[in-house]
Amino acid sequence: MRLAAFLLIFCIFKYANSVDHTNFKTCEQSSFCRRCRKVTPDQSKFALVPGSLNTYSDSVTADLIHKDNKHLFTLKLEALEQSDIFRLLIDEKTPLKPRYKVEHALKSAPKPGSIKVLEGDAELTIISGPNKAIIIADPFRIDFYQNDVLTVSANAKGLMNFEYLRPKPQQPAAEGAPENAENASANEVQNTNDEINDPGAWEENFKSHQDSKPYGPEAIALDFSFPQAEVLFGIPEHADTFALKSTSGTDPYRLYNVDVFEYILDSKMALYGSVPVLYGHGAQRTAGVFWHNAAETWVDIYTAESNVVSSIVNFVSGSRKSDPLAAHFMSESGVIDAFILLGPTPLDAFKQYTSLTGTAPLPQMFALGYHQCRWNYNDERDVEEVSAKFDEYDIPMDTMWLDIEYTDGKKYFTWDQFKFPNPLGMIKNLTDLGRHLVIIIDPHIKRDSSYFFHNDCTEQGLYVKHSDGRDYEGWCWPGSASYPDFFNPAAREYYANQYALWNFKTVTADVMFWNDMNEPSVFNGPEVTMLKDLVHYGNWEHRDVHNLYGHMQLMGTFDGVLQRDFNQRPFILTRAHFAGSQRYALIWTGDNMADWGHLQHSIKMCLSEAVAGFSFCGADIGGFFGNPDAELFERWYQTGAFLPFYRGHAHIDTKRREPWLYPEKTRLVVRDALRKRYSYLPLWYTMFYEHRLTGEPIMRPLLAHYPKDKETFTIDDEFLLQNRLLVRPVIHQGATKVNVYFPAIDDKKNGDLWYDVDTFKKYANVGYESIAVDSYKIPVFQRGGTIIPKKERIRRAATLMKKDPYTLVVCLNRTGKADGTLYVDDEKTHNYRNGEFNYIHYKFENNLLDVDFIGKPQFKTVAWIERVVIAGLERVPKSATLIVDGISKELEILPFSEAVAVRKPGITVQQVFNIRLNF
Ligand code: NOJ
Repeated sequence: MRLAAFLLIFCIFKYANSVDHTNFKTCEQSSFCRRCRKVTPDQSKFALVPGSLNTYSDSVTADLIHKDNKHLFTLKLEALEQSDIFRLLIDEKTPLKPRYKVEHALKSAPKPGSIKVLEGDAELTIISGPNKAIIIADPFRIDFYQNDVLTVSANAKGLMNFEYLRPKPQQPAAEGAPENAENASANEVQNTNDEINDPGAWEENFKSHQDSKPYGPEAIALDFSFPQAEVLFGIPEHADTFALKSTSGTDPYRLYNVDVFEYILDSKMALYGSVPVLYGHGAQRTAGVFWHNAAETWVDIYTAESNVVSSIVNFVSGSRKSDPLAAHFMSESGVIDAFILLGPTPLDAFKQYTSLTGTAPLPQMFALGYHQCRWNYNDERDVEEVSAKFDEYDIPMDTMWLDIEYTDGKKYFTWDQFKFPNPLGMIKNLTDLGRHLVIIIDPHIKRDSSYFFHNDCTEQGLYVKHSDGRDYEGWCWPGSASYPDFFNPAAREYYANQYALWNFKTVTADVMFWNDMNEPSVFNGPEVTMLKDLVHYGNWEHRDVHNLYGHMQLMGTFDGVLQRDFNQRPFILTRAHFAGSQRYALIWTGDNMADWGHLQHSIKMCLSEAVAGFSFCGADIGGFFGNPDAELFERWYQTGAFLPFYRGHAHIDTKRREPWLYPEKTRLVVRDALRKRYSYLPLWYTMFYEHRLTGEPIMRPLLAHYPKDKETFTIDDEFLLQNRLLVRPVIHQGATKVNVYFPAIDDKKNGDLWYDVDTFKKYANVGYESIAVDSYKIPVFQRGGTIIPKKERIRRAATLMKKDPYTLVVCLNRTGKADGTLYVDDEKTHNYRNGEFNYIHYKFENNLLDVDFIGKPQFKTVAWIERVVIAGLERVPKSATLIVDGISKELEILPFSEAVAVRKPGITVQQVFNIRLNF
């Protein structure tokens, strides 16, 4: 009895505070997911049709047949220019109507490579550079080899599915009908397939919502095995560990952009974004698969855990072979379009992915500073007072944000005249201080006949429609709302124009934007989003393009912000995202909660996003829902200081939580964390430049640089910033020490040197070290062998630090060497694209610091170097000699914690110089 009461209270407590699961489908409740999951493994029905092969310079095509229903498909296997990416396309040979192929996710059409083809009796070998793909005819499978090592296999588990389009049977299977074949129409041979007999194949109900499914079953699925992998990761966005877990006995991971209220942790449920790229990593190599499909997708994961049963069978049968890790992608519609990324290193695979979908553009410097947001700052006075308080307490802050309440009745591109009578004045006050304003613009449009936007969209036919041509109406913040069809170029153009200053006259070109609720969120829609049978431009169903909706809005916003002022870099925050959205916007992890678990997950989630192209990621500092206590608040600001996007944000019902509203000690701890962030701005800026240049993520899992160290495979509470800093923030309540893992370079337990950035204490051993932490401590370590640029004079905003001097921090490796880069430009415009930048390479060797420029240094700056800190020297030098243009000058050396500092070299970062240490 007592136990029952306890359980009841526990459940009420737990679920009162978390997502209502019943609002979202399980795989069992999703007809296509359950159909795809039903495919019997190891008995693939697909085979190549003999004699159907065509060979081209960069690709082969052939027909595939389903051996039972005899339906024909075309297969195309393409090698891309880099030779380490193959693209596999499978479509119906003669579909009843064209099937949707994703547009706009790739940054441009991939460049074709060149191939050689060897034809065998039962297989076909396609050679591309050092790599090859072998297509096995029957049962159909493709093995991809990187340098002769089998790295990825498609359909090795035989789970491929391709439901062809067919006329609706006369008596369709009704929802709720038994799952046998009795409802199949007798005159249709193909109707003997399981797919059309699934209740829900031709019409699907979820709660009170009905999906008319006019085209019936059209799912596609394929499995990919990674024979070299010991861990799988990727496919954000999920509030889960970085390493993907087995889905045996659970739902698959789901990719379907939805607005989940109070999302729970350690869950495979869908969230706001969907990035269908997945990697398999093992000590020897890494490979990936990018599943280029924008429909609802579920992904089953086969890990060592799920393979235990088969291993036992193998063991008993005397066989040593265990099944490779694998992923089974299942999408509701579209075609099979998969890019195979052959690695072989983790960074190679990440770069292969960004070579297809792009990187974040170089942000303005202010974007890397601290952002202060809440739902909502009440009025102009509130905004000014908060901004002034940051100055009063000498806490740096770059950007104030306004949530939906600034608008006139949730009509975007308008202002509430009472609370914000003079937005231009408010904006000027901020920009005069070097600060920025970001305002929210959601995609739902209030259906109000006095609202120009609504009238224009209605008249010009720019809204998403029902199949009978009526404009779709849903429910969101403004009440009744419609949704621009951003797939329509005319709608995108109209939308982009609204951002123009001649239209949106109450902002300036310094005001930037936040696109929220763009999954799209529809409060009264199925799963809080749009009906799948709505129709978009080009006659595509919402089903085909759902995960791309937010992305298309971003294209419009980006164009609009750019058009407004071509020489200012846009800054756009988005909640929904798809592959490629990183080219337009940064992301945050949505409506998290003020608890330690959500703080911990901010790292895991941003790591998964980073390897999927979204380097610019952050989480609501403090947690969106709930009120963080002082300790959680402090630790969250510390963690956020080392994540790329740094914004405090809170729900409208939470207590105000600007740092000065906490006790003095908390305010000081938060200030300290923010100042640490600002001291690293030159590094952040350089890392963003290099991200754009190389496509490598900024925030990285340890395995990115320590791929052979198996301990790193599952570490996701610690991360790297490039390969320069290792960050292990305090993310547990009451912690007085943290266990930091220093990874091994090889399997002999050799490791790098690491220096505590506060004390320069050196750590030389591989393995876990217990590091004592007080309230102020953020355990961060600079790798021996790197040089990091910093600025130590912290001002009110990043924009005001442009001319301030630099400190170079040189941490030596075991051979007394180090190198690093610094990128400098005007921090705001696109002039850097015309060469107006300095990209500087520093090198320290034989006690000499040397500099050279990558490209021509063409940006004029007065910013100078005020200090060079050197850690890891065996002896303390007596002095240093600066040599510029052949002229020498003696410099003073001072002790600097456990390092030394060379005082005031005094040269600008544009000058060529060297500094020699004298012993
Ligand atoms: C949902 C967003 O996730 C949240 O950050 C925002 O404050 C609310 N929408 C209101 O706009």
